[in-house]
Amino acid sequence: MSAPLYIGLMSGTSLDGVDGALTAFDGALHAAYVPFPEPLRQILFTLQSAGFNEIEREALVANQLVQLYAQCVHQLLSDAGLSAAAVKAIGVHGQTIRHRPDLGFTRQANNPALLAELTGIDVIADFRSRDIAAGGQGAPLVPAFHQAVFGSPTATRVVVNIGGIANLSVLRADSSVLGYDTGPGNVLMDAWASTHLGTPYDPSGEWAASGRPAPEMLADLLAEPYLSAPAPKSTGRDLFNPEWLQDRLARFSGIAPVDIQATLAAFTVRSIAQAIQRDAPEAEAVYVCGGGALNTHLMRCLQHELGKPVASTEALGIAPMHVEATAFAWLAARFCDGLPGNLPAVTGAQGPRVLGALYPA
Ligand SMILES: Nc1ncnc2c1ncn2[C@@H]1O[C@H](COP(=O)(O)OP(=O)(O)O)[C@@H](O)[C@H]1O
Ligand SMILES: [Mg+2]
Repeated sequence: MSAPLYIGLMSGTSLDGVDGALTAFDGALHAAYVPFPEPLRQILFTLQSAGFNEIEREALVANQLVQLYAQCVHQLLSDAGLSAAAVKAIGVHGQTIRHRPDLGFTRQANNPALLAELTGIDVIADFRSRDIAAGGQGAPLVPAFHQAVFGSPTATRVVVNIGGIANLSVLRADSSVLGYDTGPGNVLMDAWASTHLGTPYDPSGEWAASGRPAPEMLADLLAEPYLSAPAPKSTGRDLFNPEWLQDRLARFSGIAPVDIQATLAAFTVRSIAQAIQRDAPEAEAVYVCGGGALNTHLMRCLQHELGKPVASTEALGIAPMHVEATAFAWLAARFCDGLPGNLPAVTGAQGPRVLGALYPA
């Protein structure tokens, strides 16, 4: 019998869309991407902070999201020439609207019951809550997967996922893993590009590359206490949001918008590089996944800052935009096999836990 197939669905803090992966973890992979229509994206933005009647607004947006999740699943099935019956389970992350492990909760807009109904496939959802219930951060969850697929028995490898937020996995040769959110990935650059370019992001980082970082502002951004706080730690738009940026910008005047973009790019680069220099100085190479891998300027600056090779995870066999979705397929497989999905050394949970809840087809 061939290995069971799983689907992973991820929509992250960038609020760009849903990435899907269909795989049996044997090297073959089908991927699909469904971008969020602008009105949905706007509603998701407004749900990131407190507002009127948010319980109902969250429920309604979750139903809209799940329509896109289902569309992504159907696209994967049709690309692979498979029927729903061929897939063992879907692992769906949902869309984070609050992440407050310090208060004992994390919240992803999602409707896994509807997804099971629309696809006819078992759905595993809500992966983060159990880790938080066990005293953990509930994040990042991907380091366990990174270790399983990217770890090396002979060298320390570093994998950095640069989505809206950036998270680091230090994969040591003895198979121990360190991981945490380093701080902002694209989220601040995206916000600034959207204001000044009118585009959701700065393509390839070209706009940032045409400016010059402002040293005083960069120093001020780097003074953010989150960066030097000890792990375990995780963050999101709860901290790194437009208000956070406005607050910092108000301290400076006379910096051109393009130089602010260059400064925000340098901030992302420096915060990631500092974490790597502190926790994995021995790493010979750094592998990047997430949309940040497509930002040529960011990749070039990171390599320059670190003085070691920086490649995309393509070099290790998975294209950068497919890694996180594949991780949620892997987490679904862990659930189905009754195996833990968290790494207590990463999240700070009291122990390994089976993550997620099942909504049968
Ligand atoms: N061609 C590109 N050039 C620069 N940045 C890009 C490009 N493509 C994607 N990105 C960045 O990647 C982000 C999406 O990355 P993703 O890994 O999906 O993040 P998340 O998990 O937070 O949704 C976009 O918001 C954008 O900032
Ligand atoms: Mg995304």
